[in-house]
Amino acid sequence: MSHDEFPTEQPAVVTCGLPYANGDLHVGHLRTYVDGDALSRALRRLGQQTAFVCGSDMHGTPVAVNAAEAGVEPREFAMQYHETYAETFPQFNVEFDNYGHTDDETNTELTQEFVRSWVDNDHVHEKEIQVAWDTEEDQPLPDRFVEGTCPYCGEQARGDECDEGCQRHLEPGEIEDPVSTITGNPAEYRTREHKFLRLADFQEYLQGFLDRVEGTDNAQNQPREWIEGELQDLCITRDMDWGIDYPGEEGEAEDLVLYVWVDAPIEYVASTKQYSERVGTDEYDWEQVWKVDGEAQHGTQWDDEWSEDSGEIIHVIGRDIIQHHAVFWPAMLRGAGYNEPRTILATGFVGIDGNALSTSRNRAVWADEYLDAGFHPDLFRYYIATGAGLETDVDFSWDRFQERVNGELVGNVGNFIYRSLLFAERNYDGTPDADVSEDVRDRIDDALDDFAAAVRDYDVRTLADVAIDLSNYGNEYIQRNEPWNLVDDDPERAEQVIRDCVQLTKAVAVVMQPVLPGKAERLWGQLGEEGSVADVSLDTALEAPPSEFDDPDELFEQVEDDHIEELNAELQARIEEANEDDESDDADEGDDGGAAADLEPLVSERIGFEDFEGVDMRVGEIVSADPVDGADKLLELHVDIGHEVRQVVAGLAELHDVDDLPGTRVILLANMETAELFGIESNGMVLAAGDEADLLTTHEDAPLGTRVQ
Ligand code: MSP
Ligand code: ZN
Repeated sequence: MSHDEFPTEQPAVVTCGLPYANGDLHVGHLRTYVDGDALSRALRRLGQQTAFVCGSDMHGTPVAVNAAEAGVEPREFAMQYHETYAETFPQFNVEFDNYGHTDDETNTELTQEFVRSWVDNDHVHEKEIQVAWDTEEDQPLPDRFVEGTCPYCGEQARGDECDEGCQRHLEPGEIEDPVSTITGNPAEYRTREHKFLRLADFQEYLQGFLDRVEGTDNAQNQPREWIEGELQDLCITRDMDWGIDYPGEEGEAEDLVLYVWVDAPIEYVASTKQYSERVGTDEYDWEQVWKVDGEAQHGTQWDDEWSEDSGEIIHVIGRDIIQHHAVFWPAMLRGAGYNEPRTILATGFVGIDGNALSTSRNRAVWADEYLDAGFHPDLFRYYIATGAGLETDVDFSWDRFQERVNGELVGNVGNFIYRSLLFAERNYDGTPDADVSEDVRDRIDDALDDFAAAVRDYDVRTLADVAIDLSNYGNEYIQRNEPWNLVDDDPERAEQVIRDCVQLTKAVAVVMQPVLPGKAERLWGQLGEEGSVADVSLDTALEAPPSEFDDPDELFEQVEDDHIEELNAELQARIEEANEDDESDDADEGDDGGAAADLEPLVSERIGFEDFEGVDMRVGEIVSADPVDGADKLLELHVDIGHEVRQVVAGLAELHDVDDLPGTRVILLANMETAELFGIESNGMVLAAGDEADLLTTHEDAPLGTRVQ
């Protein structure tokens, strides 16, 4: 069954991934909130009743570890960041209808209710597991208190997430070679009793859910792999003080708190509830959205289909937390008899210069830094929400920011609006008395259709493009008709042209509002319109603008070169420092994913294709690796390149384990001059990256001997 088209009869809720209350916000976090905000504004613009809610994620080890480092109690520490976030979001015109936090009473009660409901429906059981333990401190090491190797992909992982590798959630006890982040000592595994949610109960349901859920492809497709085979139990308790207590019988699990990923998503519900309580259920009923037919339906009583009489739940998150939202969360909701998400939008990551953002390394552009630079928030919103499709990873770049603001907002939109309104005000004191021409009316109609289609596709980028394209059309229209030459010779025609331009301006204000809400509001004022552009329907774009308005001023300001140079220099210095830190310590606790490299400058001299063709590189496989007598660094390799097995001397002895090399696929430079090293002939060169000699390989099954081109 597919869902009704927006706007539907049911209320919608748009939620954003809750920020951990543990550090400053950066431009990567802001992508989630800007996209969520723009989407909820756009839905309202279509006439969809929409609440936009979020809250701070206060619990868990992400907060506990940082609070301990700062020497502050977790509650106090998290509360400080919570208050800062609540102030920061509106400064980016991100306006939640409710912004709560996971440690408040509403969420605590609701979370405990959810858990009791799972228990009542027989989805929870207890078992003994191995948890990491710091023997020196004699304490358990939940989640981020332990680091080690991901059992699925072999990358360095921290606690409960493989954030630098396969992005999987890791259960307690799964991480290999565990090391305590408190003492740096190898951790021991000890037996403890914990509570588990039996995800296997929901396996079939989840398969159906993934077929139904709307949103980005990554949110539908990645989880399919994770739910193949029997689903592992999800450990829902932790050996910690900081968190929501497990709601057990007396004496049951008294020293355990709930895992942070239990109470965090429930805050989506709690925050909606708080909003409902504030405005009254007549205006917005949280139960109508979150519950099935307004009530929790337990267990297997209701069928596998989504219920038509429930509201529309739309989650906006980054791609790192897909598993939590597309697997765990629907199971949690289902287990408590709640409604399921209609949509999951998982955005690509924001990086800098090809590197992941890193809070602990200070490799980021910070929310405050942007605001301190004095740019209008809408410029950032436009830049971050529309530079690429939702799913694409992007790099933040001040140069690109400047280019897009100056080219698209100042040069196109600002220019058209200013020319039109100035001409209208000077010659007619406002909107001239004429009818909008049919062509222009049709063009606006098309734009409104495109806008509605983009909202239904959750396509925030296209949403903004509709406004940009419309003003592009306006620029061409005014240029082609040259009203300044018509005023004297053909005043009626001049009035007509300007009437069209003012209408186009009004339409631009209406369609640009979700992404550029502050600027749209100002433009609304310049047009002499009453009230707020946020409150009007899409069709208002075709209604006549006021006959009088004042002298306009420029809507967008040029971003100056020297300002960008200054920001670039600061950022560059920071990145270099961060990358040096990375080199000296590649186990990065606070990293948000990805590895960084200290980059050698690019070679500016170009080579022709013929030169490249002269380089014969082949796919090969190392068949044997042996130390070379008298040379600590060298290995004698035999590499199978299809046609033959080559003998190669390579400087890999100190960088790779000799026993691991046989069987490794490599790329061999086959027409390298032969050389003799320590009396052994070397007939080719194995390609490797950087000082650590990271071996180049292929990712599919190209046969041995395949040429690299
Ligand atoms: N607290 C969890 C989410 C719980 S949701 C029930 C969390 N917090 S976070 O602070 O790490 O991230 C907050 C939001 O920002 C998430 O949607 C996350 O995906 C997003 N991003 C964090 N870093 C990001 C980038 N570098 N780029 C894009 N989005 C990123 O995860
Ligand atoms: Zn992994």
